[in-house]
Amino acid sequence: IQSKKEQLISIHEAATAYYHQILMNTVTGEKALQYLLRRGFTTELLEEYQIGFSPPNKTTTHQILKRDHYSDELLRESGIFSDRTDTNELLDRFGSRIIFPLRNEKGKVVAFSGRTLPNDEETSDFDFHEAKYLNSPETIIFSKRNFLFNLDKARSQMRKTSEVVLFEGYMDVISAWQSGVTNGVASMGTSLTEEQIRVLNKIVDSVTIAYDGDRAGMEATNKAIELLSIGNRFELSIFPLPFGMDPDDYIQEKGMQAFRESIVSQREMVFQFHSRFLKRQMDLDSESNRLQYLEEMLKRLVTVDSIIEREMYLNELAEEFHLDAAVLKKQLQEYQSNYL
Ligand code: GTP
Ligand code: MN
Ligand code: MN
Ligand code: MN
Ligand code: MN
Repeated sequence: IQSKKEQLISIHEAATAYYHQILMNTVTGEKALQYLLRRGFTTELLEEYQIGFSPPNKTTTHQILKRDHYSDELLRESGIFSDRTDTNELLDRFGSRIIFPLRNEKGKVVAFSGRTLPNDEETSDFDFHEAKYLNSPETIIFSKRNFLFNLDKARSQMRKTSEVVLFEGYMDVISAWQSGVTNGVASMGTSLTEEQIRVLNKIVDSVTIAYDGDRAGMEATNKAIELLSIGNRFELSIFPLPFGMDPDDYIQEKGMQAFRESIVSQREMVFQFHSRFLKRQMDLDSESNRLQYLEEMLKRLVTVDSIIEREMYLNELAEEFHLDAAVLKKQLQEYQSNYL
């Protein structure tokens, strides 16, 4: 006999098969399928991730799952249906959305994320009345703060390389996977949690952050660096995306090989990221901003452990601002004595 958790997982597995079948083989799923293919998904990739589509008719999912004799109480608890107490029919909360099955570390589907379909490619990318992504609620088998998308698939490569690539979105993880970067995971659109970091710490020593190249992405990167730096548990690097691009955009535009190569050759250290981040926030044409920038970067240098690295960055700063490295060193020493 199945435990309640096992039953909830079985419900998710059945729903996954149903949604996937709708996407791949029905007229109802045609528009969604065309959209995904246009975005560069191959049939193999759609199979690999068992991506699906939930029909606009929100009642069929309940009818399908009822055939397996699950009680309505259990079906309600699965989180697949929206809360409605005024009717016996359970309505699929993901209706009209592309379905990404969310698998736990053992590869079992424990939740879904549904993406809206753009109504009209000509106009906007998505309907601004609705959230672009909708996730399952928390259940006894799904907790967002513990969840990492793709961990089931990425784990072996993470172990092998002792490295993980962190992405913001599922689309990025899947695109990266297709391009051969198979050690990528994503948190649930929220900022990284201590629980997720603990999971990563058991598997890898190095983390490469590849968040979106927009303001929100850079701020999230800054936050992630802060959290990942606690306790000095990881070697950190950052893959700098051109402004306004996310990793998936990058792969579509520059190609899979370019991504595979540049995620290794172009990545920067934390210090370089902060330099880029600060420069984007302040206009270095003004003298007072230049001064403020220099001071901030020198203060950051204090926290760089390696003497060689510190020396290197110091010389770079001196060169960039046409200053005597000895002067910067003096200032750095002052900050260091304050820091100790
Ligand atoms: P595409 O637009 O399809 O390329 O997706 P994306 O991966 O580029 O999404 P985006 O950069 O906008 O967001 C990154 C991640 O944040 C997503 O994978 C989601 O996990 C999360 N996210 C984005 N929008 C929403 C939303 O409206 N609601 C929720 N709950 N999460 C969101
Ligand atoms: Mn299939
Ligand atoms: Mn984003
Ligand atoms: Mn994005
Ligand atoms: Mn994207």
